[in-house]
Amino acid sequence: MKKILDIITKEVTEAFREAGYEEKYGKVTLSNRPDLCEFQCNGAMAAAKQYKKAPFMIADDVADKLRGNAMFQSVESVKPGFLNLKLNGDFLAGYLREMQKDQRFGAEKAEHPQTIMIDYGGPNVAKPLHVGHLRSAVIGEAIKRMGKFAGHHMIGDVHLGDWGLQMGLIITELKLRRPDLVYFDESYTGEYPTEPPFTISELEEIYPTASGKSKEDEEYKQAAMQATYELQHGRRGYQALLGHILNVSVADLKWNYERLNVSFELWKGESDAQPYIPDMVEKMKKDGFAYISDGALVVDVKEDTDTKEIPPCMILKSDGASLYNTTDLATIVWRMKDYHPDQLIYVVDKRQELYFTQVFRCARKTGLVEPDTRLTFIGFGTMNGRDGKPFKTREGGVMRLEKLLDDINEQMYQKIAGNQSMSEEEARETAKVVALSAVKYGDLSNQASKDYIFDIDRFTSFEGNTGPYILYTIVRIKSILKKYQESKKSAEGKEILPPHTESEKALMLEIAKFNGAMENAFEELAPHKVCSYIYDLANALNHFYHETKIMAEEDEQVQAGYIRLLELTKDILETCIDMLGFSAPDRM
Ligand code: ARG
Repeated sequence: MKKILDIITKEVTEAFREAGYEEKYGKVTLSNRPDLCEFQCNGAMAAAKQYKKAPFMIADDVADKLRGNAMFQSVESVKPGFLNLKLNGDFLAGYLREMQKDQRFGAEKAEHPQTIMIDYGGPNVAKPLHVGHLRSAVIGEAIKRMGKFAGHHMIGDVHLGDWGLQMGLIITELKLRRPDLVYFDESYTGEYPTEPPFTISELEEIYPTASGKSKEDEEYKQAAMQATYELQHGRRGYQALLGHILNVSVADLKWNYERLNVSFELWKGESDAQPYIPDMVEKMKKDGFAYISDGALVVDVKEDTDTKEIPPCMILKSDGASLYNTTDLATIVWRMKDYHPDQLIYVVDKRQELYFTQVFRCARKTGLVEPDTRLTFIGFGTMNGRDGKPFKTREGGVMRLEKLLDDINEQMYQKIAGNQSMSEEEARETAKVVALSAVKYGDLSNQASKDYIFDIDRFTSFEGNTGPYILYTIVRIKSILKKYQESKKSAEGKEILPPHTESEKALMLEIAKFNGAMENAFEELAPHKVCSYIYDLANALNHFYHETKIMAEEDEQVQAGYIRLLELTKDILETCIDMLGFSAPDRM
């Protein structure tokens, strides 16, 4: 369906033409004075110059042409030269009826669907997820779902941190504790056991212990580096251990992401990029892009227009070892080869922005991507505690994601169990659903690049701009629909009617913005725009609810029209929260 703004603009454009002015002045926008009008056109102001006429005279001419047009309830020309428009209720109701008939509520699918790979999550193997990983997962998942809704082929890749010293550290510590394990016997040529020699909790204890030791003990660190080297150069026993570390760790990560309603199409890691490094490096050298500087292999990526220094992209260290860079570049190689994406999106901490500038420029310059492949970095800000500093546990340690979710689930449970006649089980389940909305909406409603304060009390509130408020609104609608059904009535075959009141019209106008709002939110890869749309929609719904006797309405047609309107509101709210990656319970 066409966007309502475009439909109105077309009409106004026509009127400009009929009145003898150029069509380009007919652009209509949402009103910035909702007290005066619903839509406005400021074109007469701009046209005044060209026609050497007072703007209000032009606005008058256009208004004359628009009067009597069935699309508008009122058209006013206001000095110095604005056109103030209010929509006709029939027209608006007609638009909403069309929306209601459409499974996508009037949002069109992308004309040219693209393949878009999105790199988010970015957890590191053998390290527990902490709150630092929350934002990437939550924002990345939302953008992926928004893209899917827009009709694109979205591929999420978790890009595991599974390469590098942390693996050597784990192997070294394990060897010290259990030297008799078959993985350490270099003469062993048989099959390795399929059962891992550790559990996830052991693994999560081994890694920090090893990491701590390596910082104090040079010899230990050397051993870990040696183990890393041997692992990366094909030592069988170590590769078998890596397999176990990955399996155990990934199972745990999956469980954690599931709790967040986050999932990935691909579980590739840094290690998957390694086979592509030698050829890539060779080609960069051969093409004359990579050269030796201070022993290291680098590619220059600075550009004439840079206002700040962009250092060269380092491809290999002087000892020939690859880096985080190299892995990201080689990852681009297999992504292009296997998926031919039109766009690659990275959702990573904004402190890595310079790094990604280097990687992107290097990829472009050395021809790893097509000239028209879009490379997009979405850098997110820090999640802070109420003290404005990066979020920590009460003891000042790094907060595990698991713990954070447990805490917030518990807080929500207390809230829900207190005021409802629910069984404990239902209250627990509901608490989880509502708590997730609190965490996700609390994050997503902020512009991603900004830091924000993780304030459990505010996020879990049922009032204000919060996830639970949105869910509460949906639950409110569900409960009215249920009551209506229980009264043995049915709105089937009935339609949304022209608005009877201002608050009903305001709700209808919000609904009509759906397709435009979603299109704009995805264009800007901005989940916060979806949030602000549903916040406005929920407010309009609640205002309408408070001003309207829905269940007590005696005219059955009118009542059925209300019900249809509520259904549409609910469907749109649910579509939007699904894009944001959470859902609503039946009651709360
Ligand atoms: N594992 C990294 C970290 O914890 C994030 C990975 C981001 N993605 C990427 N392609 N570099 O910082």
